[in-house]
Amino acid sequence: MNAINRYINSLEHPYKKNLCMEMQQMGVKMRFIAEQFRLIELSYKGKKAYLYNEELFFNTQPNSYFTINKELTKMLLSRQGISTPKGTTATTPQEAVQQRKKAHLKFPVVVKPIDLWKGMGVHLNIKNNSELQAAMNAVLSLYTKKQSLNPEHPRHCLIEEMVPGNDHRVLVLRGKVIACVMRIPATLIGDGTSSIHELIFALNQDRPDAFQLIVDAEVRATLKRCSLKLSSILPKGQQVQVRAVANISQGGRAIDYTDRISARFKKVAIDSARTLGVDFVGIDLVTEDITSNNPKQCYAVIEMNNNPDYAIHEKPIVEGQGVNVKRLLIQAWMNK
Ligand SMILES: Nc1ncnc2c1ncn2[C@@H]1O[C@H](COP(=O)(O)OP(=O)(O)O)[C@@H](O)[C@H]1O
Ligand SMILES: [Mg+2]
Repeated sequence: MNAINRYINSLEHPYKKNLCMEMQQMGVKMRFIAEQFRLIELSYKGKKAYLYNEELFFNTQPNSYFTINKELTKMLLSRQGISTPKGTTATTPQEAVQQRKKAHLKFPVVVKPIDLWKGMGVHLNIKNNSELQAAMNAVLSLYTKKQSLNPEHPRHCLIEEMVPGNDHRVLVLRGKVIACVMRIPATLIGDGTSSIHELIFALNQDRPDAFQLIVDAEVRATLKRCSLKLSSILPKGQQVQVRAVANISQGGRAIDYTDRISARFKKVAIDSARTLGVDFVGIDLVTEDITSNNPKQCYAVIEMNNNPDYAIHEKPIVEGQGVNVKRLLIQAWMNK
């Protein structure tokens, strides 16, 4: 076995391993440039590219860096007439209270970091000033950790009106929508015999490590609010939503909508990608019904992800048919 095959065999992350195997099956040659840094040169019919950390990089334009900053993303999108959550920014809890009023933001609002991911520090459904201040303090303490590593880390938190509707992730590759899922926050459904602990175990069983529902402070607080313990048996049919955010990395469900997303929302996603100048992007879009073409139906692009985790559109995560995104990515690179 050669060094590359040995290396691929040794990969523990199933998506990374699958990506490498799919490339080999499709005839891509792989050669180590620096094995110790996991840098591989890919070649196919005279084309060359790098695979770094088993990730294929598509977005190389400087514009793609704007997507890291959610406030900048919203500014650029709204200049093009794309709807984004109405919001403001603040650096202290007191300022947040003043700014919310000044910007006429109606409760419930959302407080979240300007540049983090995977639902980290996202506080939804804030109903009054004391919750607003508590959420600001929580985000600012996350920032303190980041700032100790990087003194240039932004100090502003986002405050936004909460957009009603369902949460979706739409993938755009080179001007086309290639996949779409609806994301549902982690919810336990009672069967009358399993404990909460067992329901969580069952939910996690088929999910790779990166997508597990972890029993943390939020899950414990939700259970407490519902007068439940990890050992409680949930009555048959009773549902408990244990997370506010719908991120799949936090135990959320992904339901395939690729064949159902309407022409209107495809256009919103494609226009958003073009506005930010990104070749491959995951767009978070909240709206009541993503299959509708009704121009009056409200929606908002929440944020855009420059290096989206496409595994949520593939098995075993996706419910429904799903899409082999890695194959489309490799093909897109081959046909560049
Ligand atoms: N203004 C908002 N209105 C409604 N839902 C929101 C809003 N902001 C965030 N969310 C919800 O929280 C999720 C996570 O927020 P997001 O800004 O995408 O953070 P992250 O970068 O951590 O994924 C979104 O996918 C969406 O479901
Ligand atoms: Mg997001």
